[in-house]
Amino acid sequence: MRKDDADLAGKVALVTGSSRGIGRAIALRLGAAGAKVAGTATTEQGAQAISDFFSSNGIDGVGLVLDVTSSQSVDSALQAVTERFGSPLILVNNAGITRDNLFVRMREVDWDQVINTNLSSAYRMARACVRSMTRSQWGRIINISSVVGSMGNAGQVNYAAAKAGMEGLTRALARELGGRQVTVNAVAPGFIDTDMTRALPEKTRAQILETIPLGRLGQADEIAAVVAFLAGRSGGYITGETLHVNGGMFMS
Ligand code: NAI
Repeated sequence: MRKDDADLAGKVALVTGSSRGIGRAIALRLGAAGAKVAGTATTEQGAQAISDFFSSNGIDGVGLVLDVTSSQSVDSALQAVTERFGSPLILVNNAGITRDNLFVRMREVDWDQVINTNLSSAYRMARACVRSMTRSQWGRIINISSVVGSMGNAGQVNYAAAKAGMEGLTRALARELGGRQVTVNAVAPGFIDTDMTRALPEKTRAQILETIPLGRLGQADEIAAVVAFLAGRSGGYITGETLHVNGGMFMS
């Protein structure tokens, strides 16, 4: 990669759910490319751990508390990052949860929580950030979707619906914001080695591996690299797209 491709110096990035896993890898990667990074956790302790992690990795960043299901929390996190670094022009909607169950057993609360945390959050976050992006005539919104949004997955109707919805939101918003040079894209990981997939039973993990041509789970940094590409100069002419990063388990 040419140096200027990776150069995010002077840009402020907000990455939701960066206390661990994919979000942490994304925050680290954007920080390494020179962005000032606000990473979020759901607790004060988690936010402090993110701040510590940034400073031990030489990144100019801060950990903040954010609950993406609360507009009030979104507003206060936005205020905090803006006061500290300026308005975020790179937004990565990464926070997400699973509440898996077969459809007949899925409780409405599990449906609502997943839609709220994984989909409505993208609306809430984008709404909070978009004005400064359009004013700056530059912005990047990157939504972390999932291969399940395209393939479906038994036991995940809530999660698949949220992720497919997120990809629809991505396309519609890309059309609205293109004229202001704000790109909106999704990255759809396959199965990545994080706490979310470590929670799966061993048998399920083994079955999943058989469906992946590359024969392994992905690493969080392999998602982060694609996010950094979309955030940087090289990705500047891509908008409304969903980039699949899944070792070949789904080919669109
Ligand atoms: P993880 O469970 O390790 O981390 C999720 C993050 O979201 C945590 O930092 C958590 O604190 C945060 N979070 C949860 N609820 C929140 C809320 N209400 N407000 C703010 N933050 C909240 O998950 P992982 O694996 O790192 O996943 C990150 C994203 O990637 C998620 O959107 C997930 O759906 C997606 N993904 C993950 C895959 C995998 O194989 N691990 C595959 C495809 C997509």
